Amino acid sequence: MNVKDLKVIGDDRVTSIGLGTWGIGGKERPDYSRDKESVEALRHGLELGINLIDTAEFYAAGHSEELVGEAIRGFDREELFIVSKVWPTHFGYDEAKKAARASAKRLGTYIDLYLLHWPTDDFGKIEETLHALEDLVDEGLIRYIGVSNFDLELLRRSQEVMRRYEIVANEVKYSLKDRWPEESGLLEYMKKEKIALIAYTPLEKGTLARNDCLAAIGKPYGKTAAQVALNYLIWEENVLAIPKAGRKEHVEENAGAMGWRLSKEDREKARRCV
Ligand SMILES: NC(=O)c1ccc[n+]([C@@H]2O[C@H](COP(=O)([O-])OP(=O)(O)OC[C@H]3O[C@@H](n4cnc5c(N)ncnc54)[C@H](OP(=O)(O)O)[C@@H]3O)[C@@H](O)[C@H]2O)c1
Repeated sequence: MNVKDLKVIGDDRVTSIGLGTWGIGGKERPDYSRDKESVEALRHGLELGINLIDTAEFYAAGHSEELVGEAIRGFDREELFIVSKVWPTHFGYDEAKKAARASAKRLGTYIDLYLLHWPTDDFGKIEETLHALEDLVDEGLIRYIGVSNFDLELLRRSQEVMRRYEIVANEVKYSLKDRWPEESGLLEYMKKEKIALIAYTPLEKGTLARNDCLAAIGKPYGKTAAQVALNYLIWEENVLAIPKAGRKEHVEENAGAMGWRLSKEDREKARRCV
């Protein structure tokens, strides 16, 4: 598949659908039982032309990053866009730098986009961490800086403390069923600021793939319910979606959410399906 459905993150062009990895290689702790299948699913996605992979130090206590490192072996690194995240327990100047180095080691490569995984109440820690990330850009370990689960106010506040680089992405929960980024004004603001919105849990853990109403909307396009649910999100110029890539057949189906576009009317109808 020649994927032409690309979005801008920083100065890069990234496929609108990425490969999510929460649960790949385990959840809170490593589970090695499905490693082979997981690596194959990720590799299949890359072979299809998907170039965005989302992982985090928290996922499977680092094992997810190791599997991503294994999956990308042999692919042109410069074509790929790898996202990882620092967990709040590692916020702070020295801790964040140490965490990034450990993530890069597990991945076996630099990180394209490094996110603060969740906000904490202590904004001072967030600020210190953002400054550490700016230094990591200068060191060449990470290329871009972003945040995750930041609401509009916190995003604005974070933008204000940046010294040399911009926040290029905010990864948040966003699905047809949970449209808070639309309702809160976050999506509109990010569009204006040219900040990418990376939508996580875009299939509501797979339940949207079983929605008959979405399936009916997809039929004339030759598309499935899952593909409609994902296309609804990536329809917006600054939105990317990262469904979890646990199985080859799902990866393939999710890649098929790209390269076409729901009509405005069908998009409106899709909202009423959930
Ligand atoms: N930044 C954050 O705080 C944060 C939080 C949560 C998630 N995330 C990221 O977002 C990614 C996606 O979110 P998620 O894993 O919570 O939820 P999700 O992608 O909405 O749902 C994943 C579930 O849907 C299934 N699925 C995937 N494609 C499917 C398809 N085409 N048809 C039917 N079922 C399908 C998967 O099954 P299989 O496993 O069998 O393929 C899995 O059970 C995560 O993996 C992670 O990378 C980030």
